[in-house]
Amino acid sequence: MDARSQDIAADLLGWYDRHARVLPWRAPPGAPAPDPYRVWLSEVMLQQTTVAAVKEYFAKFTKRWPTIGDLAAAEDGEVMAAWAGLGYYARARNLLACARAVAASGGVFPDNQEGLRQLPGLGAYTAAAVAAIAFGRRAVVVDANVERVVARLFAIDTPLPGGRAAIREAADQITPDARAGDFAQAMMDLGATICTSKNPRCMLCPLSADCTGFRTGEPDLFPVKPVKAVKPQRQGRAFWIARNGKVWLVRREGKGMLGGMRALPDDGWRARADGTGEGPLAGPWEPGGAIAHVFTHFSLTLNLALYSGSDWASLPHGAGEWWPLDRLEEAGLPTLFAKAARLALAESGES
Ligand code: ADE
Repeated sequence: MDARSQDIAADLLGWYDRHARVLPWRAPPGAPAPDPYRVWLSEVMLQQTTVAAVKEYFAKFTKRWPTIGDLAAAEDGEVMAAWAGLGYYARARNLLACARAVAASGGVFPDNQEGLRQLPGLGAYTAAAVAAIAFGRRAVVVDANVERVVARLFAIDTPLPGGRAAIREAADQITPDARAGDFAQAMMDLGATICTSKNPRCMLCPLSADCTGFRTGEPDLFPVKPVKAVKPQRQGRAFWIARNGKVWLVRREGKGMLGGMRALPDDGWRARADGTGEGPLAGPWEPGGAIAHVFTHFSLTLNLALYSGSDWASLPHGAGEWWPLDRLEEAGLPTLFAKAARLALAESGES
C-alpha cells in the first residue's frame, strides 16, 4: 500500500470513529462484527433502496424471522407479501432461495467471499460486503456511493460503465487489511453524507487533502455518467373485479416482473400498444382512470378497467382468490397495484 493510500484509509477510519451512522444492522466502529444473517439481510435490502426505506422492513423481517432458519422455514407467499413496497422483487425470491441453501448446510454462512458468492442471488457486491462486514475479511466493496467517492478521489474521467474497472482498481489500492467492515461502511457513509452526488460538502470531508477531484474545483463532475437512454413508455391494463366487499386477486407468474407477488389481473402491459388488452372476463368494463409508474427500464401507464357485469362464474377457476377489501393492506400488493387499488376504490366510491 503506498503512502497516499495509507493516509486515505487512516483518515477515513478516524472520521468513521467519530461520525459513523448508527444503523440497526451495524456494529459500532471497532466493535465485534454483527450477526451475518442481519448483515446479509440488510445488504440485500439496501441494493437499489435507501437506508431510510430499508429501516422499517429490516425491523419487520428480523422481528418476524429472527434467524436464518426462521426465514428459511417461511412460506414463499408470506415473504413476498412482507417485501411488498420495497421493489425489485427478484431480490425477495433470491433471499428465500439463499436462506434455504444456508439452512440446508447447517444454518451457517460461508465466512469468505468465494463461499458466499456460491449462494443463490449473492452477486459480487453482496459477497464482498458480507465478507468484510460480517467476517472482517479484506474485500473490495464498491456500491454506487463508493464508486462516486473513488472516482472523485482519483479524478477518474472514463465515463461509466467503462470507468468501473479503473474505479475498482483504485478502490482495491486504498482498501486496508485491517478493519475491513468499518472501512467499507465508512466509504458508504462518506458517499451518503458528505461526498453526495450534488453539492458535495468538501469542507467537511476528511479526505479533501488527498482528493484529486477536489483539486479540479469541480468534484461533482465525477464519476462521468453515460448518456442516458430515453425510457420506453408502455401501456397496460389492469382489471378491478369486485363483488360483495371482495376483489379478485391473482398471484403473478414465477420469474417475470413482480413474479410471485399478489396482484390485480392485467393484460401483460404489452398486449396492445394502446392499453386496451383483454381481461379475465369478457366485460362489460367501465374506464377507471390510469396510474403512472416508473420501473428501471421503462415507464408504465396502467389503465384501470372496472368490471360492471355479473358473470363471476366465468372467472378462471383456481387462478385467483376473492380478497376482502377491508384487509387489502395485508394482501402485500406491490406499489404499482396498491396505487391501482387505491384508484379503483376511489372511482367505485368504496373509500
Ligand atoms: N448501503 C449498502 N450497505 C450499507 C451499509 N452496510 N450501511 C450503510 N449503507 C449501506
